[in-house]
Amino acid sequence: MANVVVVGSQWGDEGKGKIVDWLSERADIVVRFQGGHNAGHTLVIDGVSYKLSLLPSGVVRPGKMGVIGNGVVVDPHALIAEIGRLAAQGVAVSPDNLRIAENAALILSLHRDLDAFRENSNTGTRIGTTKRGIGPAYEDKVGRRAIRVMDLADLPALREKIERLLAHHNALRRGLGQEEILAETLYEELASVADKVLPFMDSVWQLLDRERRAGKRILFEGAQGALLDIDHGTYPFVTSSNTVAGQASTGSGVGPGAVGYVLGITKAYTTRVGEGPFPTEQTGEVGDFLGTRGHEFGTVTGRKRRCGWFDAVLVRQTIRTSGITGIALTKLDVLDGLEEIKICVGYKLDGREIDYLPASQAAQARVEPIYETLEGWKDTTAGARSWNDLPAQAVKYVRHVEELIGAPVALLSTSPERDDTILVQDPFQD
Ligand code: GDP
Ligand code: IMO
Ligand code: MG
Repeated sequence: MANVVVVGSQWGDEGKGKIVDWLSERADIVVRFQGGHNAGHTLVIDGVSYKLSLLPSGVVRPGKMGVIGNGVVVDPHALIAEIGRLAAQGVAVSPDNLRIAENAALILSLHRDLDAFRENSNTGTRIGTTKRGIGPAYEDKVGRRAIRVMDLADLPALREKIERLLAHHNALRRGLGQEEILAETLYEELASVADKVLPFMDSVWQLLDRERRAGKRILFEGAQGALLDIDHGTYPFVTSSNTVAGQASTGSGVGPGAVGYVLGITKAYTTRVGEGPFPTEQTGEVGDFLGTRGHEFGTVTGRKRRCGWFDAVLVRQTIRTSGITGIALTKLDVLDGLEEIKICVGYKLDGREIDYLPASQAAQARVEPIYETLEGWKDTTAGARSWNDLPAQAVKYVRHVEELIGAPVALLSTSPERDDTILVQDPFQD
């Protein structure tokens, strides 16, 4: 039986939340395996909107188990606040439907401070991060000085870990002209959240192993997108985790064989939040049209998303780096009514034609898109629930996208609503 990994195939905000919610009806367990509350996943169910950042999108469905894997960085305050917000919307989150990996690293307030300090300073490269402390928390994890979820269960031993962490951070803070942090302050911060976090703590690799053996279906929910991947993305304008599908395995403690169908969530055009190269970006009328029609404002930070035409070169590359089996094409309805639609099919770099995104930052900034122009459609695709409801020209667009990227459309999304989704090929049955 196939498990399914959902990953973003562009720069995030492709509609992963909606598709994970839709697919979670067919799954037993939904697992986050990287990132943190920098993610903003929107679900719309019968007109009610739910915004999830740290919690897996499966938690809104009764009877499904949500899991936060070891690859996620967990801000305990954000966790508690999100559980509270969902409770206010009538969604109960308890250890019955949420487990958090004991070996996941924590995001602390000092990480948030450092992220914001760097973003607001005039030196260094401004990334346009979400200022959630994601990068600094991953740095400490890789630097082997992170405080992890399980450390909250052993408060006496925590003091030594805090000393080690602060030896690093206070040296950094002194250099930046910031006030040092007292060990006691950090200890109190952690002690105050321990009781609220610990009931969710579990050994996630064991849980997933047990459930897999019992024949349960697992849906892995990626955050961000493949072009924000720390290795494969537009470095340094990326997030600090691996966002490609392979991370589902390391970020949750299942072997690579457990990862079955890879579903790449793909927007019918392109958006990006924050700094960095964006070859097909449209800053004029077209960009405004896409941004307004597509409501392209960040779920987490409210920032305006940059918008542009569909870039088949980038998605074709992601299909390879994530081993994408099929895509869910979202927001096709946003293109309704356009006279003509452009698709980037290649790049020009220093007078040469290339069919991939080069790895160097300087070359990425220089590539120029080569476009094909397709005729648009007058009728609407919004809310379509069957292939037959789509205008012929829209079908042509979808087919052409499939051909250019080299992967089939398994799902097609035509509005934010859960049920406005067309199933072409069931990833769980593949
Ligand atoms: P995620 O981060 O990948 O989960 O995506 P976000 O939730 O940040 O952004 C996607 C936005 O598009 C959300 O507001 C969704 O409700 C909305 N959305 C998802 N699919 C569709 C679709 O097919 N059509 C339209 N018009 N909106 C969609
Ligand atoms: P979802 O899961 C879009 C971007 C930030 C910034 C860069 C680094 O909703 O698709 P970070 O705070 O992670 O260090 O920021 O990554 N970014 C996202 N962009 N969607 C996201 O998540 C993102 N998460 C981070 O804007 O450019
Ligand atoms: Mg988002």
